[in-house]
Amino acid sequence: MALNPRIASWDGRRVWVLGASSGIGAETAALLLARGARVAVSARSAEALQQRFDGKTLVAPADVTDAEGLRAAAQQVAEAWGGIDLTLNFAGTYQEMRPWRMDLEAVRRIVELNLTGSFNLLAALQPHLVRGAGLGLVASVAGYGGLPNSLAYGATKAALINLAQSLWLDYRARGVAIYLVNPGFVETPLTAKNRFPMPFIIPAAEAARRTLAGLERGAFEIHYPQRFSRLLKLLNLLPQGLYFRCVRSFTGA
Ligand SMILES: NC(=O)c1ccc[n+]([C@@H]2O[C@H](COP(=O)([O-])OP(=O)(O)OC[C@H]3O[C@@H](n4cnc5c(N)ncnc54)[C@H](OP(=O)(O)O)[C@@H]3O)[C@@H](O)[C@H]2O)c1
Repeated sequence: MALNPRIASWDGRRVWVLGASSGIGAETAALLLARGARVAVSARSAEALQQRFDGKTLVAPADVTDAEGLRAAAQQVAEAWGGIDLTLNFAGTYQEMRPWRMDLEAVRRIVELNLTGSFNLLAALQPHLVRGAGLGLVASVAGYGGLPNSLAYGATKAALINLAQSLWLDYRARGVAIYLVNPGFVETPLTAKNRFPMPFIIPAAEAARRTLAGLERGAFEIHYPQRFSRLLKLLNLLPQGLYFRCVRSFTGA
């Protein structure tokens, strides 16, 4: 059963993509354009957005950690189009971190961007989340359960999963679609710095295709690659002791 309305065509649909200057967000914005959507792109780097999308999209540079700036960007996009049909927030970051090497400043930055950024976006979108509109939050399969070396990142992604579920429940009666995107490993600048093996990693263009396919079929949770996300879902159904044992043996932790 589809938990959101299906999207039969992207033609003319007004989609705002945040975190669109690189990685999955950039590929998703490019694919949306190719499918005929009207696309607005945001990230901090105006230059990167312009280099990739100038002339084809509405470029609205914004920092999701700046609530006021984000509100102005949302206003700019909504005024240019007369409304926003769908907003997708890919802005996020990852940093490996063990508790005994905790960098509290980095923890704050990760929470501020990955989690508070989504609340800032929610606040900025309040006037625009009307019946028929939609919002997609991008968490991660790392949010399903605790993983080693994922101190701050995993916690923010778990919180985003909870937030998206809560939003779906609250917005259902108001006719606003809420989507949760949980990628596994994807080849992007974010993962290029990882020194550990990344099982089942897929190219960013493939992640974009799977994201749009999930939106089109009206899924609430869009997770990929499924051979990895389903395995992690299964592990999280196990009793804690067994879960820890499996994760330790898979990760060598
Ligand atoms: N790659 C993976 O394996 C993977 C797996 C699971 C989940 N994810 C999630 O997917 C999302 C996209 O990841 P990615 O791998 O595509 O990363 P990426 O290539 O590093 O892209 C991140 C995007 O976010 C933007 N951004 C960063 N800080 C921002 C801020 N304060 N305000 C606005 N935009 C900001 C960046 O542009 P600027 O620097 O110009 O602002 C860039 O456009 C993230 O939420 C990530 O956690 C990724």
